[in-house]
Amino acid sequence: MTPSTNQVYPVIWHNNSVSLIDQTRLPNEYAFVEIHRSEDMARAIKTMIVRGAPAIGVAAAYGMYLGAREIETSDRHEFLERLEKVAQLLRSTRPTAVNLFWAIGRMMKTAYETLGTVEELKQTLFQTAQNINAEDLQTCQAIGDHGLVVLPKNPEKLTILTHCNAGALATAGYGTALGVVRSAWREGRLVRVFADETRPRLQGAKLTAWECAQEKIPVTVITDNMAAHCMQQGLINAVVVGADRIAANGDTANKIGTYSVAIAAKAHNIPFFVAAPLSTVDFELSDGSKIPIEERNPAEIYEVGDTILTPSGIDFYNPAFDVTPADLITAIITENGAFAPGELAKSQVQQVV
Ligand code: MRU
Repeated sequence: MTPSTNQVYPVIWHNNSVSLIDQTRLPNEYAFVEIHRSEDMARAIKTMIVRGAPAIGVAAAYGMYLGAREIETSDRHEFLERLEKVAQLLRSTRPTAVNLFWAIGRMMKTAYETLGTVEELKQTLFQTAQNINAEDLQTCQAIGDHGLVVLPKNPEKLTILTHCNAGALATAGYGTALGVVRSAWREGRLVRVFADETRPRLQGAKLTAWECAQEKIPVTVITDNMAAHCMQQGLINAVVVGADRIAANGDTANKIGTYSVAIAAKAHNIPFFVAAPLSTVDFELSDGSKIPIEERNPAEIYEVGDTILTPSGIDFYNPAFDVTPADLITAIITENGAFAPGELAKSQVQQVV
């Protein structure tokens, strides 16, 4: 299947391999990379050809299947041992987005629990990867629906600020934060999106703006240091962001800069929503201080294309994520409804907010 540009699916099973939209080339080029082997999938995740927590999870699930089909043995024990190595390689790609570990864990569990021949096991793993992909798409649509319930009713038409890209490109399709934005747009509840450009990798300027443009959703790109000013000017009615990992108490890791947006939103009494699937919640971590934060290459800060921005011989610090404390979050919007951060434990059973 070749997607049209306004139906964005970043990870597609196609011709016996995985087609990834190359997100490092957007918005200038809409190109695909064909992935046939688990090692290539690991590289694609590490180099951010595919990025965004749920999309990384879907890609890793297919990566597990690609690895499984490379294993030539009919011995179940040997197969599982070698599959563990594939899992280790994929786990080593990026540390923060928990969907990566969740998807690999689900694939390994399937492998251990499936009886039958190695060939049957491989088929079950393929089906599980397909299910993870399809379920994430449905989950995002449900997040969009639940978001409509909690967005402010006043004014009737909203301007929403978002940070990074938590859109179709970051998921199986539709998006989490941008899923809420899409649903609001389709229901006539949205006037405009403000997209933080999101230094250093510019996911807001490049990817969120591109996705909005595909659907003709009015979008204004601002630099990250303009968000508080826009709030003070009364330009923003709500903030909706995605998440890479949410601790059990609701503390939320998301793209670097999210925390400062949340502080500014609190100062201006603007509701701050996190939109994420339950696969992003890490109930094993009691609070956000234990979330591993990825540090990336400093060149992301000092290099723009061929231009070096800074003097030589100086130091850099390039954390890719920060943690927004739960008390700055109005609600966490999941596929099971929206929850006050402190009520997340109930998310599997009932809707609270
Ligand atoms: O480094 P990235 O681009 O993978 O970071 C992505 C984000 O921080 C997103 O906001 C988050 O994964 C939510 S995606 C639905």
